[in-house]
Amino acid sequence: MSVPESADEPDLSLPSSARIYDFLLGGGHNFAVDRQLAERILQVVPAARDTAVANRAFLGRAVRACLDRGCRQFLDLGSGIPTVEAVHETAQRYDPSARVAYVDTDPVAVAISRDVLAGSDRATVTAADLTDPDAVLSAPGVAGLLDPAEPTAVLAVSVLHYVADDDLVARLIGRYCSAFGPGSMLVLSHGSTDVDDPAAVAGTVGMQQLARDSGHPLVLRDRGVLRRVTAGVDPLEPGLVDITRWRCDEPAPGPVLGMYALVGTVRAQSR
Ligand SMILES: C[S@@+](CC[C@H](N)C(=O)[O-])C[C@H]1O[C@@H](n2cnc3c(N)ncnc32)[C@H](O)[C@@H]1O
Repeated sequence: MSVPESADEPDLSLPSSARIYDFLLGGGHNFAVDRQLAERILQVVPAARDTAVANRAFLGRAVRACLDRGCRQFLDLGSGIPTVEAVHETAQRYDPSARVAYVDTDPVAVAISRDVLAGSDRATVTAADLTDPDAVLSAPGVAGLLDPAEPTAVLAVSVLHYVADDDLVARLIGRYCSAFGPGSMLVLSHGSTDVDDPAAVAGTVGMQQLARDSGHPLVLRDRGVLRRVTAGVDPLEPGLVDITRWRCDEPAPGPVLGMYALVGTVRAQSR
């Protein structure tokens, strides 16, 4: 793997959460320092790997559902590294004209994404904070790639639990979903302790502790809050369910942490 050089190039001697996530997914964009910390995380929260894999598998199924319903544009908020069944790979396999704008705030994820996407004219990456929708939507990598008149899938997959305020989450979902044409969709996965399996709850609390210690606290939300913040979206079947149950025929690879999933169409009046 090579990473473009820049004045503010990240310090590669330090572990990176984006590369740790890539390692958990079985990707190739990580270093020994990331793998060592990942192994320590897995000792504390053994379900972290299967949760990352289950979340990524949900993302692939959700992208295909959006393509089936006519979305050919994707805005992937908090995209991480586009690795292991990346959104542009899945979408462009289905329709080579599909366009994907990746957005992430982590300089490591953005630098590696630029490297992965080099030469592609239908996938971009933008360094931006999703809590500033005006900046995201007007950035050249987004405004220059996505036609606002076209139906677009807004992906907020395993990211909104980093935004502390419920009302802000609701406003952000409303703003992004109303920025594109009729037929637009929302794809959401979100950490939760509101699940039945006590082992999943215990693991999720362990992950929350690790996240707090690393300076990226997680705000877990229950079904009621997630229903409220997605009120402008009509969920596709099977609704708001555990990620391992969203249109998944395979049993989960192992115990996973609490994580809800939803794919829905944006209601006309919320646009
Ligand atoms: C767990 S990863 C999820 C990656 C991908 N969405 C997936 O589900 O496979 C969360 C990503 O969200 C990014 N992120 C967190 N807060 C963000 C924010 N405010 N704006 C943009 N990206 C953010 C992190 O840098 C990280 O790459």
